Amino acid sequence: MRTTTARAYPNIALVKYWGKADEELILPAAGSLSLTLNHFETTTTVVPAPDAETDVLELDGALADPGQTDRISTFLDHVRALAGRDDRVLVRSRNSVPTGAGLASSASGFAALATAAAAAFDLDLAPRDLSRLARRGSGSACRSIPDGIAVWHAGDDAASFAETVPAPDMRMIIVTVNRARKAVSSREAMRLTAATSPFYSGWVTSTEDYLEQMVAACAAGDFTRIGEITESHALRMHGLIQSTVPPIRFLNPTSHAIFDAVAEARESGIEAYSTADAGPNVAVIVRPADAEALAEKLSGFGDVRVVGPGPGAHLLTADDAVPPADAVNPAAGEGSRA
Ligand code: DP6
Repeated sequence: MRTTTARAYPNIALVKYWGKADEELILPAAGSLSLTLNHFETTTTVVPAPDAETDVLELDGALADPGQTDRISTFLDHVRALAGRDDRVLVRSRNSVPTGAGLASSASGFAALATAAAAAFDLDLAPRDLSRLARRGSGSACRSIPDGIAVWHAGDDAASFAETVPAPDMRMIIVTVNRARKAVSSREAMRLTAATSPFYSGWVTSTEDYLEQMVAACAAGDFTRIGEITESHALRMHGLIQSTVPPIRFLNPTSHAIFDAVAEARESGIEAYSTADAGPNVAVIVRPADAEALAEKLSGFGDVRVVGPGPGAHLLTADDAVPPADAVNPAAGEGSRA
């Protein structure tokens, strides 16, 4: 075993994943497609801790709470099973994304962890197998293994991985409305949707249909069709989520105002389309030449950042290792050593 560091970027789905066919294996009910970003990265260092009894997680310079540590420990069990080893590890992870606020931090987090942990345990995985591994941490994380625009295939465990597909160049404007951790996690909300929404089966079949159209639009370089599907599918997802019992709403009045402002921009000749994940923040796709002008128009709604297609998850050198929590904040690491 060895100490390793990896970096991964979040992805924002243009055809959304919302609902599982298998909770244990994290197999999606339908395929999805996303853009991996070139900002808001997660950097993760995995340090072998052969004498420790439990895994330890330091997140953003502080010891993580037991719930977060259990989740990564369960994920690391899959890595240990693949490697045929039982060693515990110390994980140091640093996000430049607010955790749990609907900016896909679990995607970059588990993609970085899968990449670093696979290397730490000397596993030499093919890209699709690394994507399948990341999927076990968080479904959307499998799409942060490849770069650019990626399709995550529905199917059985062997077939359900993400890979890059050809697509035209585009930019995404991230409008951060709220950085707070969301009240209901995607995982829980997804479960509730499948269990209670009368529209769920229609959602699954129409998502398959949209995905097929989206892949064709990407291959054809048809930005207009990509945008139309993106916005329509996002609103369908939020409609679906609002139809759960009890209802869940992730979009707030500012989110809706951004969708309206983007529709107005379209009327005035800047072609752009909105989407939003399980939170109030909005992501807008736009052609590269229009990105700065539209970002300026949206700057009154929150923090705006223009991002582009980013790289897949990758290993870094030892120089990029995440520093120990007690080096960042002397009080934070107390009690964290085995
Ligand atoms: C709204 O991948 O976070 O961002 O698989 O349960 O960990 P789990 O869920 P997660 O859900 C992401 C939901 C979404 C849509 C998407 O990214 O496709």
